[in-house]
Amino acid sequence: MTLFVTGGAGFIGSEFIRQAIARHRVINFDKLTYAGNLENLDAVAAHPNYSLVTGDVCDAAAVAEALPENCDAVVHFAAESHVDRSILSAEEFVRTNVVGTQVMLDVARHRKVKRFLHISTDEVGGDMDPDGWLNNASPLRPSSPYAASKTAAEHFVRAAVHTFGTDAVITRTSNNYGPYQFPEKLLPLAISNAVENRPIPVYGDGMQVRDWIHVADNCRALLMVLEKGRAGATYHMGGGNPLPNLAVLKLLLKILDRPESLLTSVTDRLGHDRRYAVDFSDTTAELGWKPEISFEEGLRATAEWYRGNVEWVRRCRSGEYRNYYERMYGEREATAKKI
Ligand code: NAD
Ligand code: TYD
Repeated sequence: MTLFVTGGAGFIGSEFIRQAIARHRVINFDKLTYAGNLENLDAVAAHPNYSLVTGDVCDAAAVAEALPENCDAVVHFAAESHVDRSILSAEEFVRTNVVGTQVMLDVARHRKVKRFLHISTDEVGGDMDPDGWLNNASPLRPSSPYAASKTAAEHFVRAAVHTFGTDAVITRTSNNYGPYQFPEKLLPLAISNAVENRPIPVYGDGMQVRDWIHVADNCRALLMVLEKGRAGATYHMGGGNPLPNLAVLKLLLKILDRPESLLTSVTDRLGHDRRYAVDFSDTTAELGWKPEISFEEGLRATAEWYRGNVEWVRRCRSGEYRNYYERMYGEREATAKKI
């Protein structure tokens, strides 16, 4: 297949491309915002199946130019993805996550793309009851500006299915973790700080529950949904093991052999959801998928990866990663690529 992947230079998109590239041609369409890091794609950059187009999903003309007619699928990851940033300012979230999704749907339809895989999140269901699990029967009750924008995007996808007969599939995944995650999110931040013996910020009482899934398990599911999912369906993927943040951080510190005194309580996030948990029985029943990487095993491997890639983290934190072409190929190439 030829896959038009948006946001492929981010955390999950880059894992998806690394998994997909052996079997599919991939066009990675990415604006390279602060979250887009071409270093994440070093493993595939020279692969004959891979190409990169820098562009904005809100720019219909740029998308139309890059998107081949009759392309097999759009895999739409591109989004602003960090809840804390959406609380500081929601504007870019509405633009990229809502307008960008609507533009992608329109252009995909005009270019006769065969399938639209829309990457959504468990956060569309908002705060779950203590024994609640998100599935297709759950009401959509987003709490944060990020979640509100992702919920609006889902509505545009379902509207395209209903109105135009678009072959679209939605996936809702819980909190991903693994290599190449930008160190503003909890786990890469905590690992990187712990390695340097720096304090780890714990929002509020640290008893908020998240359902961690390894990014490799998620992307395996995405490929299955892409290839075998039902048109118009919404599939759920979770780790099957919701845990409070404090339990996750204590396990991490044990793995890294660092003291719990690094955990530092800080002011809680505004409107912080207490619990997310995903019922992925639909994906298991229909596609035979379930997560394969246990949380402890995945966390160990992830901690090892960040410990072994301190230079990657340093370049993320210093902003140096944004000069990718300059560092790789010199100034002339960087200017030519207009990065
Ligand atoms: P990320 O922030 O790491 O990467 C986002 C990517 O999108 C970056 O490469 C960025 O450059 C690109 N991008 C942003 N705005 C763009 C625009 N206007 N045009 C083109 N490209 C643009 O995000 P992630 O964590 O990899 O998440 C990917 C998707 O998965 C998002 O849709 C997110 O909502 C969803 N999701 C993430 C998680 C998670 O735990 N990270 C969980 C569930 C769902
Ligand atoms: P995050 O990685 O931002 O993902 P999300 O908000 O999408 O779930 O945060 C995961 C959990 O960790 C969430 O409950 C907020 C909390 N958190 C902290 O306690 N400290 C931090 O420094 C960060 C970034 C998050």
